[in-house]
Amino acid sequence: MIESDATISLLRQAARAARENAHCPYSQFAVGAAVLAGDGVIYRGANIENASYGLTICAERAAIFAAVSAGAGTIKAIALVTSSHDVSRPCGACRQVIAEFSSTDSPTVVITESVDGAFEIETIEQLLPHRFNL
Ligand code: THU
Repeated sequence: MIESDATISLLRQAARAARENAHCPYSQFAVGAAVLAGDGVIYRGANIENASYGLTICAERAAIFAAVSAGAGTIKAIALVTSSHDVSRPCGACRQVIAEFSSTDSPTVVITESVDGAFEIETIEQLLPHRFNL
């Protein structure tokens, strides 16, 4: 785990701020994410739901797609704040997407935080061993 306490704290704050922008009228489950990209920039994302439910995008993928679209190559860390009172980890689809942009030398750090501020720090390798690859 290479990220400092200060960086982790910044990412957690950014994820909490991003959660304010969640569009979740169907589930009422707001999620915010913040990505620390390889270029050192923090990118944010929130879950965005749709009346056609399957079109919903998770906060993690919204943040990662913003980062990658802006030219960030790898993802050093991602923080997530949900609406759960338990720490809740990224869904399987988001784990696969995080793994795509993780570096093999230094797997992406995943910080997961409950609405009350309890948090866990893991790596994508712990959350998704043996990911699909071509
Ligand atoms: N959601 C996320 O944003 N991230 C996850 O890892 C799992 C679920 C969102 C999707 C949906 O808008 C709401 O949470 C309830 O499933």
